[in-house]
Amino acid sequence: MTDQTRPTCLAVFGGSGVYEMPGLTIEEEREVETPWGSPSAPVTIGELNGVRVLFLSRHGKGHTVPPSGLNARANIAAAKMLGATDVLSLSACGSFKEELAPGHFVAADQFVDRTKGRPSSFFEEGCVAHVSMAHPVCSRLSEEAAKAAEAAGTKVHRGGTYLAMEGPQFSTLAESELYRAWGMDIIGMTAMPEAKLAREAELPYAILGMVTDYDCWHEDHGAVDVASVLAILAKNRVHAQKTVDEITKLIGPERTPCPDGIETCLDYAIVTPKEA
Ligand code: ADE
Repeated sequence: MTDQTRPTCLAVFGGSGVYEMPGLTIEEEREVETPWGSPSAPVTIGELNGVRVLFLSRHGKGHTVPPSGLNARANIAAAKMLGATDVLSLSACGSFKEELAPGHFVAADQFVDRTKGRPSSFFEEGCVAHVSMAHPVCSRLSEEAAKAAEAAGTKVHRGGTYLAMEGPQFSTLAESELYRAWGMDIIGMTAMPEAKLAREAELPYAILGMVTDYDCWHEDHGAVDVASVLAILAKNRVHAQKTVDEITKLIGPERTPCPDGIETCLDYAIVTPKEA
């Protein structure tokens, strides 16, 4: 069981440069080795508004790690080993709804996992555990993230379903229309199995999907391309940085236990007897 009374240590998974913000004191860039291998990049450890923060550039420095090659187990394990109490994921995504426009943020609260063959559990050998994923994000952290993004001047939508696809190619039109018909809100390539692994590590997790495009379903917008995704992300960079600044002010260094019981979820999940 995780110690629930520790001071806040917020891990932020995002693009490179999300930590280039005034007020952040960087202590060190730590190379971490976990039992599941190395994370995508050295972890930047620092303090912001009195809160300990860890930054991980999910696609590596210089964006060299493709979505299918992400070692999400090592990323989550590194955060846990460095004392993270919470994980905030900042992720680019496409939109399936007119009102979720490029530049907006979506505090998604559900996922559909269509990734294929990515290692997605810490419990693969010797110990069997089944954690609940019914409510995959921490309601408190998600609300704090939404409030922080609003304070940063971003239009935020609360709730929504993130469809995680394998990539790296974008969807066909038929897939895009299928996901829309399913009622999906946004699509991306990174949040799964990250969210599942955060839960197995008893880490409260929240995601802000940063909408960069309308995928390929929207008559007025044609097909999604990397140039337009990068252009919106560049515009969003300051909003993302400000959001992290604001969320540390909102959370503060002193934490109370997660209201959703995420920090104790393994108490009820492990099937293998201790002596096995
Ligand atoms: N990331 C940003 N836009 C995306 C899209 N349309 N599909 C999948 N991942 C994305």
